[in-house]
Amino acid sequence: MLAQRCDPIRVAGATKIYPAPGGTLITALDSVSLRVRAGEMVALMGPSGGGKTTLLNLVGGIDLPTRGEVSIDGCITSTLGDDRLTRLRRDHIGIIFQSFNLLTAWNVFENVELPLRLQRKPHAEIYRRVLSALESVSMDHKADALPSELSGGEVQRVAIARAIVHQPSIVLADEPTGNLDSRNQDTILRILSELAAKGQTIVVATHSPKVAMSCNRTIYIEDGRVTG
Ligand SMILES: Nc1ncnc2c1ncn2[C@@H]1O[C@H](COP(=O)(O)OP(=O)(O)OP(=O)(O)O)[C@@H](O)[C@H]1O
Ligand SMILES: [Mg+2]
Repeated sequence: MLAQRCDPIRVAGATKIYPAPGGTLITALDSVSLRVRAGEMVALMGPSGGGKTTLLNLVGGIDLPTRGEVSIDGCITSTLGDDRLTRLRRDHIGIIFQSFNLLTAWNVFENVELPLRLQRKPHAEIYRRVLSALESVSMDHKADALPSELSGGEVQRVAIARAIVHQPSIVLADEPTGNLDSRNQDTILRILSELAAKGQTIVVATHSPKVAMSCNRTIYIEDGRVTG
């Protein structure tokens, strides 16, 4: 079953337990299994505290499961060790965080070029790719602006440019349209759909039925379990 083995995202019986104050434990994910195929755009829905961000952190290699396995492009994250996991994350994953995490002292261009600098790409390539990523989110005219000079929708679009500038095979987005008006929501959904059409794999955690309707399918997660 080569096709299945090559699925860019595979989660097999993943459980994530966090220590909580008072020596108790929180089971944020409980034996979750799923696969996402290349070019799929999948919505992750469910109540607040259900485990969506925890699952994205595992699928993005930011965190490791307490039990079970997560594979990113065929690599099992818990077997890699820190250096290889960092490289896998750097080269294969783009993340749009729930809070956008742009660096406030850096302008738009500098924020977006970060993944390419980490990959030590040549200057000319960095320049070309950053401009192309900014053009794809219609933000090339604001390359010199600081994040504090941007609207919420513009910050979001820059965060997307940074997540896609190194052309990762997997793009993860945590509430990418939260607090945005419907025009900006539509723009972001269009950008993500275009990435999926080009073969990139997209997982979007969202509370918005409209976002979910733009995806190929929806995975529901509640109390750490996949419910549908
Ligand atoms: N670092 C952590 N330490 C302890 N508990 C955590 C940690 N991160 C998440 N949790 C807990 O794990 C559970 C799942 O949280 P998670 O952030 O994954 O939910 P979510 O579905 O993303 O919610 P939301 O829709 O509000 O963003 C919650 O009970 C949360 O309090
Ligand atoms: Mg969350």
